[in-house]
Amino acid sequence: MEVVIVPDAKAGGELIAEAMAELLRRKPEAVLGVATGSTPLPVYQALAARVQAGDVDTSRARVAQLDEYVGLPAEHPESYRSVLRREVLEPLGIPAGSFLGPDGTAADISAACEAYEADLAQVGGVDLQLLGIGTDGHIGFNEPCSSLASRTRIKTLTEQTRVDNARFFDGDIDQVPQHVITQGIGTILEARHLVLLATGEGKAEAVAQTVEGPVSAFVPASALQLHRHATVVVDEPAASKLKLADYFRHTYAAKPRWQGL
Ligand code: F6R
Repeated sequence: MEVVIVPDAKAGGELIAEAMAELLRRKPEAVLGVATGSTPLPVYQALAARVQAGDVDTSRARVAQLDEYVGLPAEHPESYRSVLRREVLEPLGIPAGSFLGPDGTAADISAACEAYEADLAQVGGVDLQLLGIGTDGHIGFNEPCSSLASRTRIKTLTEQTRVDNARFFDGDIDQVPQHVITQGIGTILEARHLVLLATGEGKAEAVAQTVEGPVSAFVPASALQLHRHATVVVDEPAASKLKLADYFRHTYAAKPRWQGL
């Protein structure tokens, strides 16, 4: 995997937005896999700026959701469908009809998970999957000890993740749903390019284990080591526990720019 250390979150956002823009110039109907949470926001803002400047056309792009809370009405402001409409679809000018996501309100959740896998297959899979990382190493909502072969399914959030996410629910953990639908690790690994962004010191331990630790279901993000095109973009605080930080800086500085991410 490639590790790129950037000065701050804004620089990380610019770098990944440029990789997405480059993909869309090459393949206007590309499927962008998107994460929610705080970390990816600078990416979406930087991509929106490119769209507004006419640098890239997103009108034919498709957007695929990574995960969703179970039981939150779709119109709830914190359902990930609502968040992505606000933060991604509207600013990027992508029509609602180009959005793919699991139905977290379905009466039959297992059927909704299978339907989402079928939808992803039908569009030919995800071209570039943007990921954040939990303080416990989760990707999507694959919490520690999720099978590395898992597919889209229901998961129970850990207490730590619910504490972390309470900030989106007036600081009240009781409002954070217990369950989510998440693409499985096996599903995520099928995307053609995985780009994980991590910012802030709180992610440093999870990043070090992901990049330099063993591949282990205990640290779900370590599954990125199995992917042939995985890029980990980290700011300095998130890189602070990497033993090979200098090596990563050196190799990225020497990388031919035409290669992109
Ligand atoms: C949400 C998701 C999660 C988050 C992770 C980090 O769609 O995929 O894995 O990326 O919980 O969240 P933030 O970025 O808020 O720290």
